[in-house]
Parts: sequence; structure tokens; C-alpha cells
Amino acid sequence: MTENPVPTHSVPERHGRLGILMPGLGAVSSTLIAGVIAARNGSVAPIGSLSQMGRIQADPADPASDKPLIRDFVPLAHLDDLVFGGWDPISANALEAAQVANVLQGPDLAAISSELEGVVAMDAVFDQRWVSRLEGVRVKDLTSKWDQAMALMDDIERFRSENACDRLVMVWCGSTEAYSEPTEVHMSLDAFEQGLKDNDDSIAPSQIYGYAALQSGVPFCNGAPNLTLDFPGMVELAETRGVPICGKDFKTGQTLMKTLIAPGLKSRQLGLNGWFSTNILGNRDGEVLDAPENFKTKEVSKLGVLGSILEPEANPELYGDIEHEVRINYYKPRGDNKEGWDAIDIFGWLGYEMQIKIDFLCRDSILAAPLVLDMALFMDLAAQRGESGIQEWMSFYFKAPQFEEGSVTEHDLFAQERMLHAKLREFAG
Ligand SMILES: NC(=O)c1ccc[n+]([C@@H]2O[C@H](COP(=O)([O-])OP(=O)(O)OC[C@H]3O[C@@H](n4cnc5c(N)ncnc54)[C@H](O)[C@@H]3O)[C@@H](O)[C@H]2O)c1
Repeated sequence: MTENPVPTHSVPERHGRLGILMPGLGAVSSTLIAGVIAARNGSVAPIGSLSQMGRIQADPADPASDKPLIRDFVPLAHLDDLVFGGWDPISANALEAAQVANVLQGPDLAAISSELEGVVAMDAVFDQRWVSRLEGVRVKDLTSKWDQAMALMDDIERFRSENACDRLVMVWCGSTEAYSEPTEVHMSLDAFEQGLKDNDDSIAPSQIYGYAALQSGVPFCNGAPNLTLDFPGMVELAETRGVPICGKDFKTGQTLMKTLIAPGLKSRQLGLNGWFSTNILGNRDGEVLDAPENFKTKEVSKLGVLGSILEPEANPELYGDIEHEVRINYYKPRGDNKEGWDAIDIFGWLGYEMQIKIDFLCRDSILAAPLVLDMALFMDLAAQRGESGIQEWMSFYFKAPQFEEGSVTEHDLFAQERMLHAKLREFAG
């Protein structure tokens, strides 16, 4: 059997320069930029990136059909054609962000330090009421939310022209904001725009970035669990402007494991009494999540996955009474090297109980960075193919996938992967 069969289809042409704009130059975004630079230099493979290393069955009905690399199957922007930008209220540039985050080892950073330093943070739209643990210093000196949105749109256009970008994508890599629910102001585009002009308290900074991106025709992906674009007014804007959007909250460590294991338990008809998940992490994200109002946003996102996978209504004997708890503790010594424990209480034949324990010693940003790359490239392709509004097929990447009103949210990683592949085949024609 040939390991890498010669593709029978023509490899699509990639063209143009793609700008990836990230509100939040912190651990994830600096690790993404560092990895892309290293992969471009040929010193490492882009491990963990489906768009770069994954293959796809060209014809799912024919198992003997060609299995090309995804990047040879659909016309994705090339790593050499990517340029990075971002906003941050604290980090001056991507090098400083990487040094603070302490994800990468000294020699790895030293080799690419000047390129990282070249990614200079633009002044942020920031409000400490939404992220109480951070003190912003590089912040736009504007009090009107409408003016802030206009200033972000100016930043976007300046970045586009200074970097000769043919296209742009925005990925929120900023901190998790305090928990909030949609209010009247979120119910329509008109109400939201009026809210910006009235400085409505329920409009968070990430929503202002989202508005600026969509008004500028820039696809937006939300890597945090914030509301950001998950409300009717913003979906209306995405559809009116013909721009694709997706979110929320990168599915990286513990929730990735949960959405791998839960479908397996269900396919073997093993019951579940409870799932207790706890984490320690010591990076800036952990510090932000130490505030109860910010943790609540993350907790809601993390708790949502089991119900839709296990369908307790359809399987009450197995999954009708599950206790599901999630905890995160800020513990500085671990930095970005999060440790996540899961105690899973299951039961089988004759109701006998068993336990599964997971201890995942992961690296948060090492897991998240390739996801940002994939989502930027796939959303850029979606925009070129004329997609607009919520992109449900991107749910593969998220803990709390944004779905259309009335459709059923899919959390099973393998079902999500099938949706993603089907969409890529559609894009490949
Ligand atoms: N790393 C993971 O595995 C993972 C998984 C899921 C979600 N996330 C989310 O991704 C986001 C980024 O994670 P991280 O580890 O890089 O965090 P981080 O704290 O290192 O970086 C976030 C950056 O956002 C900045 N920021 C805060 N408010 C801002 C604003 N209004 N505008 C611009 N920048 C702002 C902060 O100053 C900080 O530098 C967080 O919301 C986190 O919860 C991360």
C-alpha cells in the first residue's frame, strides 16, 4: 500500500496574502505566531493542525479513493502568505507576550525573536469591568463605544493597507470576559448600533471588536466563551454583510477528552453516574478565570457538552441522573502547563460500578495554537466561497459551538469531524 498516494485531482492554487488579526496578544496568539514562523523556516512540522497535516477521503462512498492532504484538496492560504496583527491592553508585542506566557523554551524563542517583536500590539478597546484581574495600559483613549468601534475599523483598514493584505480574518484570543446574557440591546442590529451610541453597559469589548470586524467584511472566530457574536443582532450583521462567523471557546484539553470518551461510552451502552473535572493552571488566563464572574462564563461553556452527546431523554436508564461538575483553580507554579483531572463514575452489566481516572498534563497554548491556524484558514476559504452567518461545520474546534437558532448543537468530536470534512468536499467541488 502506498503511504502517500499521488493525488488524482489537481492541487488547487493558493494566492494572496492573508492577515490574521487577533484581539489578545497573549499565550495562545504568541504561540501560534511562533509556530507558524518555525514551520515556515522548516524547523518543525505544524503538529496538531488538521489543515496542514490532516488528510481527507476524496470520495467518502469509495474507501479506495484518493486521500490527499487537506491543504492539497482545497485552496487554503499558504503559511508563507500569512501576516499577523493584534491588539492588547498589556503586551507591547508578540515577543513580550511569549516571554510573559513562558510557553516556549529560550532557544526556540531566541531563533525567531525579531520576527515576533515585529508583531506590535495596537491599543486595545478594554474595560476592566469585564476582566477585573487585569490592569490595561495600552488602551484607546475613547469613552464612546461607537467611537471605539470606528477606531477599530480604522485599525483594520490601516493594517490591511500597510501589510498589503488581500484578505483578513479575526480570531478572538483575548481574555474570557465576565459572564453576561443577551439583553434588549442584543436582539437586533439596529438595537445594538443604538446601544453602541448610548454606551450601553451590557456591550462588552469583545462585541465591539466583533462589530468592527463584520462591518469591515472580516470573518470572525471566537476562541473564548464570551457572548461576543452569539446573539441575534450580530448574526443579523454577519448575514447582512455576507461574512462567516464561528465560536465559541477553543476545545483543547479536558473538554476535548470529554468529547472523545463520552461518545465511546454511549456506543457501548455503558452508564454514567457522574463526571467530576478539575484543573490547575497558572497562566494569565488562569488568573483571569480566578474571578468568579469570569469563571462562570467558562463553566457554562464546559458544562454543556455531555447532555447533547449522551441524550439523557432518549437514554434515561444510562444517563438520566448524571452529576457533572467542573472546577478551575489558579495555581501559579504550573504556568501554561495545565493539569486536568477527571474522575468518571460509570456502570455496566448488572449495574456494577467502575471508575475511569484521567490525569492530563497538557500545555494549554500548545494545544490551542494549531486550532487558531486551522480556523483562520478554513474561515478565509468559507468567505471566498460566499458563506455567511454561523458556520456550524466549524463546531469541531469549539467547546460551546455556535449553532443556528432551532438546530441541535453537535458536541461529538467524530460527528463534528464528519461535518467539517463534508463541508471541505463541498468547497472542493
Ligand atoms: N489555551 C487554551 O487551551 C484555551 C482553550 C479555550 C479557550 N481559551 C481562551 O483563549 C483566550 C486566550 O487564552 P490565553 O491563554 O492566550 O490567555 P492570555 O491571558 O495569555 O492572553 C489573553 C490576552 O488578552 C488580552 N486582553 C484582555 N482583554 C482584551 C481586550 N479587550 N482587547 C484586547 N486584548 C485583551 C490580555 O491582556 C492578554 O494578553 C482566553 O479567553 C482563554 O480562556 C484558551
